[in-house]
Amino acid sequence: MDKLIINGGNKLYGDVQISGAKNAVLPIMTATLIVPGNYKINNVPDLRDTRTMIQLLKIIGSNVQYSNNTLLIDTKECNNPHAPYDLVKTMRASFYVLGPLLARFHESKVSLPGGCAWGPRPVDFHIKALREMKVDIRLDKGDIIAKGQPQGNKIHFTKKSVGATGNILMAATRANGVTTISNAAMEPEIVSLCHFLQKLGANIEGIGTEVLIISPIEIQNNSFEFDIIPDRIEAGTFMLAVAATGGKIKLKNVNIEHLESVIDHLNKINITTNLDGNDISIESDGEYEAIDMETLEFPGFPTDLQAQWMAVMLKAKGNCVIKENIYHDRFTHISELSRMGADISLKNNIAYIKGVHEIYSAPVMCTDIRASAGLIIAALCSKGETEISRIYHIDRGYDGIENKLTSIGANIRRIKS
Ligand code: EPZ
Repeated sequence: MDKLIINGGNKLYGDVQISGAKNAVLPIMTATLIVPGNYKINNVPDLRDTRTMIQLLKIIGSNVQYSNNTLLIDTKECNNPHAPYDLVKTMRASFYVLGPLLARFHESKVSLPGGCAWGPRPVDFHIKALREMKVDIRLDKGDIIAKGQPQGNKIHFTKKSVGATGNILMAATRANGVTTISNAAMEPEIVSLCHFLQKLGANIEGIGTEVLIISPIEIQNNSFEFDIIPDRIEAGTFMLAVAATGGKIKLKNVNIEHLESVIDHLNKINITTNLDGNDISIESDGEYEAIDMETLEFPGFPTDLQAQWMAVMLKAKGNCVIKENIYHDRFTHISELSRMGADISLKNNIAYIKGVHEIYSAPVMCTDIRASAGLIIAALCSKGETEISRIYHIDRGYDGIENKLTSIGANIRRIKS
């Protein structure tokens, strides 16, 4: 397995081009199944997860080509509404095919996703909502067997869920009748999915709010282009990296509205941010006070930047608290950061961090996509040479991160296994 070797201590200077958003492109790729057609999707990052989704679309019968960050997807010949376990177990987002396959085929067999490094990842919201749409759902040897055309209904989620909102949105586009989703997720990736579904011909009211009203497609539009929005989590990762190391970088091709909470938190620790159209500059001397942070659904501070924020707080002046409200056990990075000399204690879903004067290199191991990014940030601002293993986690969600970091002055290299 590949490793990353990082020699910490360099400040970061230069420009970084932000890639398309992983969590926007994955549901949109499954949405191409809803109406048989030809779809051209631009600004698609080259990730393990997008390659896994390409594999899944091909198993279902799509013809997919990917080059120069553009996807060409032809779903006219799809004939196998099945997402097998050996794919779903590697990527939970495979579960997104459930809604589209039901919309098109009125049946689907999708393996139940397992948990992930930090714990269980249930799909009970998805199943409950589809049953309320009169879909017959049963579990058979680890597979969800779903049958029936979704019927429009009023769906309420007791807790905001990005995945469940996406699946029900897609199931509703060819349902019999209108569907209302209340307490819907408002993440930019869901807004972007709504825009794609509108292009397909669905009528969706309330986009960007927590109440969505979906009238099914009447006139199908099955051949169009679509641009993937910039990845706010990749952008936030670089913003937090330079905050920790010090320096000045400019991120190109971002959507500032998707980063307001991150910008607000950086400004609170006196990190300078300058907005310029679709670019944002961040400047830091690497010295800052600790402040508390809690993760929240959008527009709050994203859980996908929690580990990266923790890495920034390790050497901050003073002590702070991080409260993880989305996934109460998303802390596998703490044990690895502690190996580098971090002073962190955990009680339930709250991490208590005591700022230390220095953190040191140590062999550490990735456990999930975003924990890995936290380890990279810690290594970039630690003394000595850090070896990071199991970086296939990083490759799931970041397109060429070591090349982008090298281009702004980081001392980082990949050792191929
Ligand atoms: C999406 O996961 C993202 N993945 C995650 O990013 C992100 O962390 C998460 O949303 C929260 O923002 C993709 O978009 C591919 P949820 P998802 O359903 O949809 C609970 C990354 O690193 N829940 O919004 O799976 C759940 O346990 C990944 O890019 C249920 O209880 O997340 C969690 O506590 C990691 N039952 C909360 O809701 C359900 O049926 C939010 O989960 C569904 C969710």
